[in-house]
Amino acid sequence: MNYFVAAQLIAFFLLVDTRPDDEWHYPTPGSNGIISEPETWGGQCDNGRRQSPIDLTQAAAVRGEFAPFQFNNYKLPIRQAQLVNTGHSVQVNNADPAVSVQGGGLPGRFVLDQMHFHWGSEHTIGGVRYGLELHLVHHDARYPTLGDAVAARNGVAVLGVLFHVSAQPNMHVALILDTAKDVRMEVGKGAPLKGKLSPYNLLPQNRTAYFRYEGSLTTPACAEAVLWTVFTESIGVSLEQVEQFKAIHDQTGQELVNNFRSLQPLNARALVYATEWDQLGRGPASLCQPRLLTVLAALLLSAKALLR
Ligand SMILES: *[C@@H]1O[C@H](CO)[C@@H](O)[C@H](O)[C@H]1NC(C)=O
Ligand SMILES: [Zn+2]
Repeated sequence: MNYFVAAQLIAFFLLVDTRPDDEWHYPTPGSNGIISEPETWGGQCDNGRRQSPIDLTQAAAVRGEFAPFQFNNYKLPIRQAQLVNTGHSVQVNNADPAVSVQGGGLPGRFVLDQMHFHWGSEHTIGGVRYGLELHLVHHDARYPTLGDAVAARNGVAVLGVLFHVSAQPNMHVALILDTAKDVRMEVGKGAPLKGKLSPYNLLPQNRTAYFRYEGSLTTPACAEAVLWTVFTESIGVSLEQVEQFKAIHDQTGQELVNNFRSLQPLNARALVYATEWDQLGRGPASLCQPRLLTVLAALLLSAKALLR
């Protein structure tokens, strides 16, 4: 082999190895289903101290009470909804800035950008992994785009919805999977959703109990910009539906068997477990309200007067 051919071969392999930035992948599980190699995604994914996902436990959490969430236009079907195979998930984008969320302890109004699924949940609750996790990704309305918001701490709010396996299929997930058949083999491909999908239908009924913490995006570059909400009530999905997600192919033409990132350490962060906001002061705290104390004092005084 002469130098010219050798140089050409080297050039060829250099070219083949020069991958675009988004060509990262999830580690493939072994034949026993266990993932042994951790992701090596570089940068903040490897060095960050406020990364996601994490294991959520009440034992590690502090109690919180926030105002109720307000979901603006969440009941409207997503307009011109397309399902896209991103190579890492299937995603529905939202272009209507009126679809937004506020309250729930969020520092302002956050606009819905997109929704996507992870098969195998990313967050675990007390070490237990769920069948699916839906991420509703929002950016703070004070920033023009999600791209601008990822540079700011708490610029992004992600709502995480967990799905447990149950006997009944989920009709909204069925719509996603039905459309996924058209895009599952081709990364970057989009197809119109084969029906109406309202983000509201993908939320659990109980939206007052959730975990809240400051973390990151769970895909490269793992920006530490996310105020996380993971609802504790999960939604049912059938085993067959969970299995169907695994038939979606990634950019290498392989089945995307699962697409959850490994658990990250909590480090010095506070994990909050939020429950019902005691707006009307009906809890034990109301016993200390000034008006009630006045009534009690008056009763005591009149009782005293009667006893005399
Ligand atoms: C939501 O769940 C929490 C925790 O289980 C419970 O305390 C609360 O009463 C529930 N709220 C509603 C509206 O069901
Ligand atoms: Zn996600």
